Amino acid sequence: METKFFSQEELDKAVALLAKGELVAFPTETVYGLGALATNEQAVKSVYAAKGRPSDNPLIVTVADEMMMADYAREIPERARKLIKEFWPGPLTLLLFVKPGSLPKAVTGGLETVAFRCPDDELTRSLIAKLGAPIVGPSANTSTKPSPTTAEHVYHDLNGRIAGIIDGGPARVGLESTIIDLSVKDPVVLRPGEITPQQLSSVLDEEVLINTGKVTDQAIPKAPGMKYRHYAPSAPVVVVDTVQDFSDLNLNKQTGVIALDTVLEKLNLPAANKFSLGDSLVSADHSLFDGLRYFDDQEQIKQIYVQGFNGTQASLAYMNRLNKAAAGHHYQAK
Ligand code: TXA
Ligand code: MG
Repeated sequence: METKFFSQEELDKAVALLAKGELVAFPTETVYGLGALATNEQAVKSVYAAKGRPSDNPLIVTVADEMMMADYAREIPERARKLIKEFWPGPLTLLLFVKPGSLPKAVTGGLETVAFRCPDDELTRSLIAKLGAPIVGPSANTSTKPSPTTAEHVYHDLNGRIAGIIDGGPARVGLESTIIDLSVKDPVVLRPGEITPQQLSSVLDEEVLINTGKVTDQAIPKAPGMKYRHYAPSAPVVVVDTVQDFSDLNLNKQTGVIALDTVLEKLNLPAANKFSLGDSLVSADHSLFDGLRYFDDQEQIKQIYVQGFNGTQASLAYMNRLNKAAAGHHYQAK
């Protein structure tokens, strides 16, 4: 199968493919998603196959608006309405009870809940509106690899396995959406993202807990995706928490450094061995996955050092993804 790129003007071609049960990747403000008609069980199953994703890891359902979501949610609780009013369209995914029988089991992994997302991307919302039904939207990467933040990343991972990719340019945020579970007594963040627990808490006017799940392979995790290897390039990743430690590292042809400009300036590395996170946490969020992919494509790189950011709510999402990519490995100064 040849994977075609679609421009904004060719949206109707993408709609037609999705309607037929084919897979089309789509842009969002967070990362690119892998779309399939959510009501078509066969199409949904082929998403797992294309990504190499374990079949018990449920998929996000991407809707054009709240009205579309209402057809698939058992009910829309008051908390959800408040959050939708404030944050949709935007990088917030809501976990609600599914309306029984409205979606194939392949979407929910057999759970009673379903994750709803309405992305801040006009092209994608109009795609879904034209289709007239939601699309599933896992990140459009090969399972275990960093999520794609450009159409080229998607092509790199899924060329030949999907019908098309809608090119919407680089994703604004660069890390996946915040997931909040509203199916439980007290709302809890299952995956941190650009929208922080504090922001959610202030809109809901109640405490919002964080449980990014210290799940093991044995436990039944609340967000099933959390138990799998994630965001990992082939070379091992190590988090460097203290800027001063970069000068102690044994940097050479086989190492890669992903850090802010201020750090890279002092290290004087060749282009093949460094990747810039820009000048702020926002640009770091935007570029982290791109950086991990940059070194993943270079065989000579055997070790990747990545700058850590600690302490604030704003860095929760970045550190959550980085810790997974590094499997918890942090540099220990001697
Ligand atoms: O920003 C995003 O959310 C991106 C863009 C493409 O929309 N999508 C995304 O999807 O990150 P994915 O599948 O890569 O991550 C969704 C996470 C997975 O860890 C999955 O286990 C969890 O959400 N999830 C989905 N449905 C769930 C459910 N019913 N209960 C618990 N966790 C669920
Ligand atoms: Mg993913």
